Amino acid sequence: MFKNTFVLAALAACASAQNVIIASPPALATLFPGQSVVVDVDRVPSLTGSQDVAVAIGIQSCVGLAPAGTCDGVDTTGNIGTPLFSGPYTPQPVGNGHSDLFQNFTVTIPEFLPAGPAVLSVAHFGLVIGVEPFLEVVNQTVIIGNDAAF
Ligand SMILES: *[C@@H]1O[C@H](CO)[C@@H](O)[C@H](O)[C@H]1NC(C)=O
Ligand SMILES: *[C@@H]1O[C@H](CO)[C@@H](O)[C@H](O)[C@H]1NC(C)=O
Repeated sequence: MFKNTFVLAALAACASAQNVIIASPPALATLFPGQSVVVDVDRVPSLTGSQDVAVAIGIQSCVGLAPAGTCDGVDTTGNIGTPLFSGPYTPQPVGNGHSDLFQNFTVTIPEFLPAGPAVLSVAHFGLVIGVEPFLEVVNQTVIIGNDAAF
Protein backbone atom coordinates (compact mmCIF):
# COMPACT_ATOMS: atom_id res chain seq x y z
CA MET A 1 0.00 0.00 0.00
CA PHE A 2 2.67 2.48 1.03
CA LYS A 3 4.79 1.40 -1.87
CA ASN A 4 1.92 1.87 -4.36
CA THR A 5 1.22 5.33 -3.00
CA PHE A 6 4.87 6.19 -3.31
CA VAL A 7 5.04 4.95 -6.90
CA LEU A 8 1.90 6.90 -7.84
CA ALA A 9 3.28 10.04 -6.23
CA ALA A 10 6.57 9.57 -8.07
CA LEU A 11 4.75 9.04 -11.37
CA ALA A 12 2.57 12.09 -10.78
CA ALA A 13 5.65 14.16 -9.98
CA CYS A 14 7.39 12.95 -13.08
CA ALA A 15 4.35 13.52 -15.28
CA SER A 16 4.02 17.07 -14.04
CA ALA A 17 7.72 17.62 -14.72
CA GLN A 18 6.96 17.14 -18.41
CA ASN A 19 4.61 20.09 -18.59
CA VAL A 20 5.45 22.79 -21.04
CA ILE A 21 4.11 26.32 -20.76
CA ILE A 22 3.48 28.93 -23.42
CA ALA A 23 5.77 31.66 -22.09
CA SER A 24 4.96 33.93 -25.01
CA PRO A 25 2.68 35.32 -26.32
CA PRO A 26 1.22 36.22 -22.90
CA ALA A 27 -2.44 35.58 -22.11
CA LEU A 28 -4.80 37.97 -23.90
CA ALA A 29 -2.02 39.32 -26.16
CA THR A 30 -3.45 40.97 -29.26
CA LEU A 31 -2.27 39.28 -32.46
CA PHE A 32 -3.19 40.29 -35.99
CA PRO A 33 -4.06 38.18 -39.04
CA GLY A 34 -0.92 37.76 -41.15
CA GLN A 35 1.38 38.72 -38.28
CA SER A 36 4.51 36.67 -37.50
CA VAL A 37 4.46 35.72 -33.84
CA VAL A 38 7.07 34.00 -31.67
CA VAL A 39 5.59 31.16 -29.66
CA ASP A 40 8.01 30.53 -26.78
CA VAL A 41 7.50 26.99 -25.43
CA ASP A 42 9.27 26.55 -22.09
CA ARG A 43 9.68 23.75 -19.63
CA VAL A 44 11.60 22.94 -16.49
CA PRO A 45 14.50 20.54 -16.96
CA SER A 46 13.56 16.90 -16.50
CA LEU A 47 14.81 15.06 -13.44
CA THR A 48 13.78 11.71 -14.86
CA GLY A 49 15.70 11.55 -18.11
CA SER A 50 12.53 12.11 -20.10
CA GLN A 51 12.90 12.94 -23.72
CA ASP A 52 11.12 15.66 -25.68
CA VAL A 53 10.06 14.54 -29.10
CA ALA A 54 7.77 16.97 -30.85
CA VAL A 55 5.26 19.77 -30.64
CA ALA A 56 2.34 20.85 -32.78
CA ILE A 57 1.08 24.41 -32.49
CA GLY A 58 -2.45 25.32 -33.55
CA ILE A 59 -4.94 28.15 -33.26
CA GLN A 60 -8.72 27.98 -32.97
CA SER A 61 -11.03 30.99 -33.09
CA CYS A 62 -13.63 31.04 -30.31
CA VAL A 63 -15.96 33.35 -32.24
CA GLY A 64 -19.29 31.56 -32.56
CA LEU A 65 -18.13 28.69 -30.31
CA ALA A 66 -18.29 30.49 -26.97
CA PRO A 67 -20.16 33.39 -25.37
CA ALA A 68 -19.08 36.65 -27.06
CA GLY A 69 -15.64 37.83 -25.98
CA THR A 70 -14.70 34.55 -24.29
CA CYS A 71 -13.36 31.08 -25.00
CA ASP A 72 -15.54 29.56 -22.26
CA GLY A 73 -16.30 25.92 -22.90
CA VAL A 74 -13.95 25.61 -25.87
CA ASP A 75 -11.69 22.57 -25.45
CA THR A 76 -8.71 22.18 -27.76
CA THR A 77 -7.33 18.97 -26.29
CA GLY A 78 -8.93 16.95 -29.11
CA ASN A 79 -8.63 19.56 -31.86
CA ILE A 80 -5.91 22.22 -31.83
CA GLY A 81 -7.50 24.08 -34.75
CA THR A 82 -5.51 25.33 -37.72
CA PRO A 83 -1.99 23.89 -37.48
CA LEU A 84 0.68 26.60 -37.49
CA PHE A 85 3.72 24.40 -36.87
CA SER A 86 4.53 20.77 -36.25
CA GLY A 87 7.97 19.33 -35.80
CA PRO A 88 10.73 18.44 -33.37
CA TYR A 89 10.89 20.02 -29.92
CA THR A 90 14.49 20.36 -28.77
CA PRO A 91 14.42 23.03 -26.06
CA GLN A 92 17.67 24.70 -25.05
CA PRO A 93 18.69 26.27 -21.72
CA VAL A 94 17.43 29.84 -21.30
CA GLY A 95 20.75 30.81 -19.69
CA ASN A 96 21.22 33.89 -17.47
CA GLY A 97 21.06 31.76 -14.33
CA HIS A 98 17.67 30.23 -15.23
CA SER A 99 17.48 26.45 -15.35
CA ASP A 100 14.42 26.43 -17.63
CA LEU A 101 14.55 25.19 -21.17
CA PHE A 102 12.92 27.03 -24.03
CA GLN A 103 12.40 26.92 -27.76
CA ASN A 104 11.01 29.75 -29.89
CA PHE A 105 8.83 28.93 -32.89
CA THR A 106 7.90 31.68 -35.33
CA VAL A 107 4.42 31.15 -36.75
CA THR A 108 2.09 33.22 -38.91
CA ILE A 109 -1.41 34.05 -37.71
CA PRO A 110 -3.83 32.95 -40.47
CA GLU A 111 -5.43 35.78 -42.47
CA PHE A 112 -8.89 34.25 -42.19
CA LEU A 113 -9.16 34.32 -38.39
CA PRO A 114 -12.02 36.58 -37.31
CA ALA A 115 -11.39 39.37 -34.80
CA GLY A 116 -12.04 38.24 -31.24
CA PRO A 117 -10.75 35.63 -28.82
CA ALA A 118 -8.88 32.56 -30.01
CA VAL A 119 -7.04 29.71 -28.34
CA LEU A 120 -3.40 29.08 -29.16
CA SER A 121 -2.56 25.46 -28.29
CA VAL A 122 0.67 23.53 -28.03
CA ALA A 123 0.48 19.74 -28.17
CA HIS A 124 3.66 18.31 -26.65
CA PHE A 125 4.77 14.73 -27.15
CA GLY A 126 7.54 13.09 -25.19
CA LEU A 127 8.82 9.86 -23.71
CA VAL A 128 8.84 9.63 -19.93
CA ILE A 129 11.99 7.89 -18.66
CA GLY A 130 12.79 7.46 -22.34
CA VAL A 131 10.11 4.80 -22.90
CA GLU A 132 6.61 5.86 -21.83
CA PRO A 133 4.65 7.90 -24.41
CA PHE A 134 3.34 11.14 -23.02
CA LEU A 135 1.03 13.69 -24.68
CA GLU A 136 -0.30 16.94 -23.26
CA VAL A 137 -2.04 19.96 -24.73
CA VAL A 138 -1.50 23.37 -23.15
CA ASN A 139 -3.10 26.57 -24.30
CA GLN A 140 -3.17 30.35 -24.14
CA THR A 141 -6.16 32.55 -24.92
CA VAL A 142 -5.22 35.42 -27.23
CA ILE A 143 -7.18 38.19 -28.92
CA ILE A 144 -7.20 38.47 -32.69
CA GLY A 145 -7.21 42.17 -33.57
CA ASN A 146 -9.02 43.81 -36.43
CA ASP A 147 -6.51 43.59 -39.28
CA ALA A 148 -7.39 47.09 -40.45
CA ALA A 149 -5.40 48.24 -37.43
CA PHE A 150 -2.29 46.23 -38.34
C1 LIG B 1 -6.66 25.52 -21.42
O1 LIG B 1 -5.95 24.94 -20.36
C2 LIG B 1 -6.67 24.99 -19.13
C3 LIG B 1 -5.76 24.47 -18.04
O2 LIG B 1 -5.29 23.20 -18.37
C4 LIG B 1 -7.96 24.21 -19.24
O3 LIG B 1 -8.70 24.30 -18.04
C5 LIG B 1 -8.79 24.78 -20.38
O4 LIG B 1 -9.94 24.01 -20.59
C6 LIG B 1 -7.96 24.82 -21.65
N1 LIG B 1 -8.71 25.53 -22.69
C7 LIG B 1 -8.89 25.03 -23.90
C8 LIG B 1 -9.55 25.95 -24.84
O5 LIG B 1 -8.54 23.90 -24.23
C1 LIG C 1 12.34 33.87 -27.51
O1 LIG C 1 11.15 34.62 -27.63
C2 LIG C 1 10.89 35.46 -26.53
C3 LIG C 1 9.55 36.12 -26.77
O2 LIG C 1 9.54 36.81 -27.99
C4 LIG C 1 12.02 36.50 -26.40
O3 LIG C 1 11.79 37.29 -25.25
C5 LIG C 1 13.34 35.76 -26.27
O4 LIG C 1 14.39 36.72 -26.27
C6 LIG C 1 13.52 34.80 -27.42
N1 LIG C 1 14.76 34.08 -27.19
C7 LIG C 1 15.69 33.94 -28.14
C8 LIG C 1 16.93 33.27 -27.75
O5 LIG C 1 15.50 34.32 -29.29
